[in-house]
Amino acid sequence: MDDFYCEERNLGAYFEAEWLEVLRAQGDNTPLACASKPVPDAFVISPFYREVSQFIAACCQQADVAPSHYLEVGPALGRVTYETLRRFPQIRQSWLVEPSQRLLSHCQKLLMTPGCYAFPYIQGLNERGSLVIDTTVIASACQHSEITCINAPFDGKTLTVQADLTVCLNVLDQCQSPLTIMDALKQSTRSGGVLVVSNTYQWQKKHLLDAEDAVDDINQYFETTGWDKLNDTDIGYGFRFNERFSKHFLSHVVGYRKRG
Ligand SMILES: C[S@@+](CC[C@H](N)C(=O)[O-])C[C@H]1O[C@@H](n2cnc3c(N)ncnc32)[C@H](O)[C@@H]1O
Repeated sequence: MDDFYCEERNLGAYFEAEWLEVLRAQGDNTPLACASKPVPDAFVISPFYREVSQFIAACCQQADVAPSHYLEVGPALGRVTYETLRRFPQIRQSWLVEPSQRLLSHCQKLLMTPGCYAFPYIQGLNERGSLVIDTTVIASACQHSEITCINAPFDGKTLTVQADLTVCLNVLDQCQSPLTIMDALKQSTRSGGVLVVSNTYQWQKKHLLDAEDAVDDINQYFETTGWDKLNDTDIGYGFRFNERFSKHFLSHVVGYRKRG
């Protein structure tokens, strides 16, 4: 593989799942070309990003946290980053830790570089269409925050700072050591701050170094004292692989407040 996580042919799946919804909200109704009969947008867009962003905002409200420092681990193309920065104009510093250079470079185009960019979407099994997105409005919604991007896997040495809001979605079962990431996420969240984590429980030998690190409920990672549960839910999460074939997961999302 020529990237830490995302092959070129998979970029379109991330782009359409995360950003087609925003493009449509901006008034661009360019139909998606399709190798077979056209498919509706609802089959292409993953509702996960909108719904989990509402969950994150509700957790902050419940914990009475108005975040000024935000950390997201594994943001992929940054849709949740965008939704979070849009909701919280007081966030002045964000750290994005994304080991995939491919995903991070496109995330930076979307969030930090106003302009028009062509992004791929899935037209057929080995065919990609292309949509032009004007990132001016997106970048302007994020510009109140300094965004520091770190192109590396996340562990306890990646950052020495602490965030009021820390988010890590659908990463734990895709990495070598979920316990290392969980420990680092907890350490990187300040006392009184909020940590939101989700997982689809697709544990695989090709990722996990130690099979014992796999859990069947991410609430177990918070059994140590010092964390108060805010909320817990399941949200549908999907990507297309072909124009009429998608994989639909159920992502388990939990929110906790670090005791202060
Ligand atoms: C299934 S994607 C999820 C992306 C996005 N958060 C979402 O919910 O759609 C998994 C993400 O985890 C990232 N990742 C994998 N191993 C990682 C690690 N050790 N540290 C940080 N991120 C990692 C990948 O680069 C990718 O962005």
